[in-house]
Amino acid sequence: MKRSKTSKSWMNEHVSDPYVHKAKIAGYRSRAAFKLLEANEKFNFLTKKMNVVDLGSAPGSWSQVISQMTGCNGNIFALDLLEMVPIKNVEFLKGDFREQEMLDSLEKKLGKTSLDLVISDMAPNISGIKTSDQAGIIHLNELALQFSTDWLKPNGCFLVKSFVGAEFDGFVAETRKHFEKVTTFKPASSRDRSSEIFVFGRNKI
Ligand SMILES: C[S@@+](CC[C@H](N)C(=O)[O-])C[C@H]1O[C@@H](n2cnc3c(N)ncnc32)[C@H](O)[C@@H]1O
Repeated sequence: MKRSKTSKSWMNEHVSDPYVHKAKIAGYRSRAAFKLLEANEKFNFLTKKMNVVDLGSAPGSWSQVISQMTGCNGNIFALDLLEMVPIKNVEFLKGDFREQEMLDSLEKKLGKTSLDLVISDMAPNISGIKTSDQAGIIHLNELALQFSTDWLKPNGCFLVKSFVGAEFDGFVAETRKHFEKVTTFKPASSRDRSSEIFVFGRNKI
């Protein structure tokens, strides 16, 4: 079958992407690692001992970064719709975070552990229909925020990926109600053409 122009240009972009090369050299499973590392350079929230939940974790580069940072000094729980190859010190759950059953399993695993950090890189499969893609990510953002407010310790932090578009400002305003300081930023490693943006909430109230 003839390859479409779009997949050809995606491949060209991928092979010439410096973050793809850097990720390979550093042993990260995905270039997404650099988004978390950049966020940490900016906000300095990763510490050597922390309890973390990583939502939308596969293939696992954010969990790799956290695992390297904390060693066995913390508890890391990761969840994704897709399978994830095991990572040292990371407990993985496979399933859909939107489902109550999945939330119950995660909460059961957490037991009495309260969290220092919740990170979410969850994004729906992009359909190209902007309104439904935007509604999909905002829904995931709201679920991640609700989970954070339920499980973070006072002063815990929250990092979540969103898309600029309808309801984004409302989501940021809602996040501001629960954290002392909320900042939005786009890392250099996030592709220019993407409407991706990150929201960082510092110090849960
Ligand atoms: C951009 S990738 C995450 C990359 C990851 N942070 C890393 O560093 O390797 C987004 C992930 O979100 C997951 N995801 C999307 N919707 C989800 C849902 N409803 N529940 C759980 N995971 C979901 C996808 O399966 C996908 O693996």
